[in-house]
Amino acid sequence: MKRVGFVGWRGMVGSVLMGRMLAEKDFDLIEEPVFFTTSQVGQAGPDIGKAIPALKDATNIDELKAMDAIVSCQGGDYTKQVFKDLRGAGWKGYWIDAASALRMEQDSVIILDPVNMDVIKSALASGVKDFIGGNCTVSLMLMALGGLFNRDQVEWASAMTYQAASGAGAKNMRELLAQMGAAHASVETLLADPASAILDIDRDVAAAMRSEAFPTDNFGVPLAGSLIPWIDTQLPNGQSREEWKGGAETNKILGRESNPVPIDGLCVRVGAMRCHSQALTIKLKQNLPIDEIEGMLAEANDWVKVIPNDRERTVQELTPAVVNGTLSVPVGRLRKLSMGEDYLSAFTVGDQLLWGAAEPLRRMLRILLQ
Ligand code: HSE
Repeated sequence: MKRVGFVGWRGMVGSVLMGRMLAEKDFDLIEEPVFFTTSQVGQAGPDIGKAIPALKDATNIDELKAMDAIVSCQGGDYTKQVFKDLRGAGWKGYWIDAASALRMEQDSVIILDPVNMDVIKSALASGVKDFIGGNCTVSLMLMALGGLFNRDQVEWASAMTYQAASGAGAKNMRELLAQMGAAHASVETLLADPASAILDIDRDVAAAMRSEAFPTDNFGVPLAGSLIPWIDTQLPNGQSREEWKGGAETNKILGRESNPVPIDGLCVRVGAMRCHSQALTIKLKQNLPIDEIEGMLAEANDWVKVIPNDRERTVQELTPAVVNGTLSVPVGRLRKLSMGEDYLSAFTVGDQLLWGAAEPLRRMLRILLQ
């Protein structure tokens, strides 16, 4: 592997990917990194500590064809625009993509190597060339609970999610903060007066949130001070597409599409910045003791961290505020539910831009480079 092309490296996921690749010195392993652009052909590329050619045209099939591997964080529209033509032109290189466009294709593998290295290895051995990052919620759930899934202990699971603004995009993160600011500004004078009545403050905030002036261009409705119980498009069966992905992608990642574990739930947007959280109800195949469950989860990979089901530890260590910007995937609130000894609860938090997006891509590239 000599030439590796990067597309969409300047966007939010791409920038997180670049930061991680620099931190892990991944570029040392790449003989010729080539950076592509859809808008600034010929300009200088990013500073990666070694000489690189000027930016190339990301829509030029001949330029793309010269790559041994291409890593795209450019989004699904771009993938749909170039991928077919590129393969149609006879390109045999590796395509590593953060977008969902090719995820469920027969020829694609969803990459999450701490969980499905066996699936990735056997795909490589059989000549698979398309390696696609998973949906963030699914990847984070499996980073946390892979220990139970890989030991085939899960009869079914239901995930109720608390998804961050970043999952909707960079503009949405800005809008969340603008909404917080607008809500605060609407009652600044009352807040400054310790004698003011809280119900007056609440009434004015509610009025501000419902007013035309409240910034909702991206979310369409208020998120700050509220939540949105629908993520992605509506499917005919009443699921949201995000909820459908939970079952479809989990089973594809685990390579068990022919014998799927039922997974379903409700996906909800909340006012967190970049960490998705999820509360799970898990029907176990057998009555396992909690300490055994904790052991299975903890030893599944190097990033999962079991938080004891203790109030103080939970509120200190199992929150988006703590996990933001880190690769740690804490899982806690582990206890048997009152429905029976086979019913387990769990709560997990993970950074949606790291394990949820960029990290599986750079690790896949490393697998190819080593
Ligand atoms: N669809 C996810 C979300 C992010 O909206 O939070 C990307 O996987």
